[in-house]
Parts: sequence; structure tokens; C-alpha cells
Amino acid sequence: MGTATRARALAFEAAEHRALESVRSSTAQRPSQARRLAVLAAAAALFAVTFAARLAIKDPDALIANFYVVPIALLAIEFGARAGVLAAALALGLVFAWSALQTIHVSALGYAARGAALLVTGAVVGRFSERLRGDIAARKHVQRHLSLYADQLGGANQHLAQSVERLEAFAEIARAVGGETDLERVLSLILEHGREIVAARSLRVCLPEGEQLAAVPDGGRALVVPLVFRGETLGVLAAIDREDGRAFDEEDEQLLLSVAASAATAIATARSVAAERLRLSIDAAEQARARWARELHDQTLQGLAGARMVLSAGLAREDPDALRHAAETADAHIGVEMRSLRDLITELRPAALDDLGLGPAIESLAKRQAAAAGFTVDMDIQFGGGERPREVEDAIYRIVQEALSNVAKHAGAERATLQVRQLAERVEVTVQDDGRGFAPEGPSEGFGLIGMRERAQLLGGQLSLTSAAGGPTRVTAVLPLPV
Ligand SMILES: Nc1ncnc2c1ncn2[C@@H]1O[C@H](COP(=O)(O)OP(=O)(O)OP(=O)(O)O)[C@@H](O)[C@H]1O
Ligand SMILES: [Mg+2]
Repeated sequence: MGTATRARALAFEAAEHRALESVRSSTAQRPSQARRLAVLAAAAALFAVTFAARLAIKDPDALIANFYVVPIALLAIEFGARAGVLAAALALGLVFAWSALQTIHVSALGYAARGAALLVTGAVVGRFSERLRGDIAARKHVQRHLSLYADQLGGANQHLAQSVERLEAFAEIARAVGGETDLERVLSLILEHGREIVAARSLRVCLPEGEQLAAVPDGGRALVVPLVFRGETLGVLAAIDREDGRAFDEEDEQLLLSVAASAATAIATARSVAAERLRLSIDAAEQARARWARELHDQTLQGLAGARMVLSAGLAREDPDALRHAAETADAHIGVEMRSLRDLITELRPAALDDLGLGPAIESLAKRQAAAAGFTVDMDIQFGGGERPREVEDAIYRIVQEALSNVAKHAGAERATLQVRQLAERVEVTVQDDGRGFAPEGPSEGFGLIGMRERAQLLGGQLSLTSAAGGPTRVTAVLPLPV
């Protein structure tokens, strides 16, 4: 249990305690003093009136004495059974006093009968009243208890609803961190849901590089927590002003720390993805340079060295025929090297793009690659005639180049098809071969597929690849065009 939750549980207990105390003291409360005095006075008056009436009125059957039951009952109702019995004893005393004053002799049976009637009245009415009072008090007690529990339940429900809302917001954040790749979008989702969680007017991420530095407004009540990922502090997360105007409390701080953990994870992940991309493209560039150097060294330089040797040998012989033969051999060597140099230059910078335009450039590229590797290529290239930005043209050229060079290097294909379609808002490029295929999810040392995918993604498009052992292999790139 968190400190905040424990604090809330304690507060709950204290409130319950206080409420129960007040319930207890209210049930133990004495009935109003004024009413008790009034009842006493009324009973005394009734006793006095009845006594006086007996003295004044001729009453041979002593019936007026029956009126003593009225004050007895009154006292019993107000003060209980004991008071009822006392009042009955008092009434009996008055009966004796009346007989003495009137010098009337009453038999023992007469006194006993009267005394029994008065005593039973006082005891029974008093007992009954006591029980009635007890019942009413108990019911009130239960009612208070119930309403107290209802209040507590209401509070707990409200708290539960708030917790569910927070849980939903956290789930949204988790989904954003797991599902979104764009840092800005992830952060804005986290900030939006995080703001709901701590009920702040606004939530800001402050990163040291000034990526989103936002000053906390003066006079605002802010809660600032660090953005920590694996022990490294990346920046801070600030919640500014609670919506209800209260100050942020310890619970808000705990919640904001959880939001900060998600934000820090998203930032760290985005950074490591960017770093990994950069590393891969540097690697790819290094690999390409190494290949060009190898090719220049192993092929062009060796070829030129060979041509030079042939010429030197011819010159040394001083025989015009031999010299001629040497010159012809060197000429052939140099011709081969020039072609391979031209291929290399074309690969470095597709000048054909500028000279011929995209369509003819990729046609000649495909023909060259197919001829070199010994497969046939069927081409279906249709451009809609609309404008294409230079970077889209470059990407199309490079993707076709890499896809066909993979066919040449890995597929062992007899046929390949190249399809390029320009639609109103996108260009679709597909290269398919009937070669041996491969498992695309398997590990690879190469950079060609990564490079193609990155080119497509950099332009807001995507690259898909389908292949399996036994083939066929199909690479499709979809590149959006600016509308
Ligand atoms: N058309 C294809 N047919 C069969 N296998 C393929 C095909 N295209 C790619 N592959 C397999 O996928 C792997 C990865 O290709 P990728 O282009 O990324 O690297 P590479 O061609 O080996 O090296 P690089 O392109 O960096 O010079 C290849 O090594 C190959 O095994
Ligand atoms: Mg490749």
C-alpha cells in the first residue's frame, strides 16, 4: 500500500470513529429538562386536584381516587417503571391521608385492592414506556449507522470511479508507449492522459537540450518530478496548477512519478531507435565505400596494371608487330575497365537520372543488372506524367537497384518482373523474382533491405517484403507524392 493510500485509509478510520462517537453521544442524550419539569408539575397538580376534589366532593364509593392513575401514568411514561411505582406509593399515601382526615374507616382489603391497582398501573405503564423508548433509540442508532455507511460507500464509490479513470488513462499511456513510434506523438499522448491523471491545468516536459523547454509560470503551483530512465535523468516533468485550485499532494506526486516513468521510457526508446538508425546508415555507407574501394583495387587497378604490363612488354620487344599486338590487348583491357568504372560511377551517382529521366534510367539499370547476372527481366513502367520530387526519384532508382541486385546476388532466379506505377498521390514499385526465396524474419548481415525500408520511411512511405524458402520473393515500396 502506498503512503498516500495508507494516509487515506487512516483518515477514513478517524472519520468513522468521530461519526460513531457523535452517534453514541446523541443516543445517550438526556431528554429535555424543561419537559421533565413540566411533567412533574402537571403530575403534582393532578395529585393535588384529585386530593382536593375528594375532600370537597361527596363520594360514597371513593371513585374519585381512581383519577390518581392519571398522574401515576404520566410520571411512569416520562420517568419509567421506578417512578411509576413511587408515584403509586405516593397516591396510596394520599388515600391513607384522606381516610384519616375524613375519619372514614376503610377495610384492609379496600386498601390492598386500591394499592394493587395503582402499583400495577405505575409499573406496567413505566415498563412499557421504557421499552418503547429503548426501541426508538435503537432504531435511531441503526438509522444513523446506516446513513454513515451510505456516506462512506458514496465516498468509496467516488474514489473507485476516480481510480478506474486513472487506470484507463494509464492504460492509454501504456498503449501509446508500446504502439506509437513517433516521439512527438507519444509525448503528446502521455502529456494529455497524464494531465487527466493528476488533474493539472497543464503538463510540460523539459529536456536539457532545450527540445521542449518550457518555463513554469510565476505564481503557479507546480509539481516537478524527474524523468528517470535506468538511473539516468533525462529531464523533468512538471504539472502546473491543479484544476480544482488545491495544492498538489503526496498522492499527486506518486501519480506524476508513474507518468514520468512512461515518458522517460518513450524518450529513451525514441533516442535509442534514432541512434540505432544512424549507426546502421553509417555502417551501410562504410560498407558501400569498402566495396567501391575493393572493386577499384581488385578490378580497375588490377586491370590497368595488366594493360600497362602488356604495353611495357610490347615496348621492350621493339618489334612493331608485337607492339601492335600489345596495344590492341591493352586497348581491350582499358575498354573493359572503362565499362566497369562507368558502372561504378553510375552506382555512385545515377547520372542517367538527369540525362535520361527516371523511366529510361531504371530501364537501362535493370537491363544491365539482368544481363550481368543472367536472368531476364520483364518491365512494366508507367508514369502518370505528374511531377515527382527529386528525392522520390532517387528513392525509386535506389530501391529498384538494390532489389534487382539482391535478385542477382541471392535469388538464382530465371525471371524477374519490375513494375513501377505512378498514381495521383503515390508511386508503387514492385520487384518480384522466381528464385529460391528466403525467410525474411531471419538474421542478416546485409544492409540492403534496411536501406530500402529506411528510404521509403524517410519519405513517409513503406516497404513490404514477402518471401519464403522456395520463393518467390516480392518487394513492394509505396512512396507518397505531395498532393
Ligand atoms: N530476392 C532475394 N532472393 C533470395 N534471398 C534474398 C533476396 N533478397 C534478399 N535476400 C536475403 O536477404 C538477405 C538480406 O539482404 P540485404 O539486401 O539486406 O543484404 P545483402 O544483399 O546480403 O547485403 P548488401 O545489400 O548490404 O550488400 C540476403 O543476404 C539474402 O540472404
Ligand atoms: Mg542486398
